[in-house]
Amino acid sequence: MTMATAQLNPTQLTPPYQDVQSHYDLSNDFYRIFLGPTMLYTCAYYERDEFTLEEAQIAKNDLALGKCDLKPGQRLLDIGCGWGATIIQAVEKYGVRGVGITLSGEQVKWAKQAAQHLGDRAEFRMQGWEEFDEPVDRIVALCSTEHFREERYGVFFEKCYRLLPSQAPMLIQVIVFPEESAQKEKCLTWTEEDVAFAKFIGRKIFPGGQLRAPSTLCRYAKQAGFETTRIQSLQPHYAKTLDAWAERLEANREAAIELTSPEIYEMYMRYITGCADRYRSGKIDVVQISLWKAE
Ligand SMILES: C[S@@+](CC[C@H](N)C(=O)[O-])C[C@H]1O[C@@H](n2cnc3c(N)ncnc32)[C@H](O)[C@@H]1O
Repeated sequence: MTMATAQLNPTQLTPPYQDVQSHYDLSNDFYRIFLGPTMLYTCAYYERDEFTLEEAQIAKNDLALGKCDLKPGQRLLDIGCGWGATIIQAVEKYGVRGVGITLSGEQVKWAKQAAQHLGDRAEFRMQGWEEFDEPVDRIVALCSTEHFREERYGVFFEKCYRLLPSQAPMLIQVIVFPEESAQKEKCLTWTEEDVAFAKFIGRKIFPGGQLRAPSTLCRYAKQAGFETTRIQSLQPHYAKTLDAWAERLEANREAAIELTSPEIYEMYMRYITGCADRYRSGKIDVVQISLWKAE
């Protein structure tokens, strides 16, 4: 157990509802404008160059779910399920029973509506991983751990390890800083503009969010008992995903402003295009980390 973990009482952790809701509860209709009908809010996987955003998002889900060795009837937990599309695809295509948790009430409303045809095979709850304590067979977390903060990583991985049976995979997709060695090798330097952009993201877009290098996450996962079996970077795919979001948002500027405000529109354009630039320059990365619980 790490020092950071030792200081936290896992049964008394409160999820950061306010910070997370300030972003995701903004307006489902606004997000629909640039995310499109899948409402997937993570890096898509352009398995083929000519893929549309929608095809690439479905391919991303398949890439992640395919690493989870899903068997019909198994119970899959999606931690940070967003608007529900990963659980829906897993239930429809892999025959599992899904439970998705998110801190956003708007996302739960949307997901429940979208999954109506699946009955009790797909369940969505407004609940943090801190409050979830039921056995599951598989776990995915697609771009949600960025909200958890390092001081909670130990408790998070220990809980996931405890909820899973032995011989079980877990898959995390996460935005990361490249390892220091890779930054040096590529001579990546953070300019004043980069620092100002990071502050803007922390203050206005994702309050409470935090990025780390893959090795930091893997270290906490290892301490909990997991083995890291694969790390796959999707870096160029996130630049392309963000370009698609920016293009859609810009093309629907008036509708977006009507649903929110000119300030919000400008903020989102700055955030989306600024992140795309930083994936292109290699200053941030996004990876799928495959974990394995042996015993
Ligand atoms: C960027 S979205 C990703 C959504 C979805 N996985 C996707 O691929 O579209 C991050 C998600 O993490 C969720 N989240 C953040 N902190 C959480 C916590 N402590 N427990 C559960 N979900 C959390 C948010 O509510 C949101 O649904």
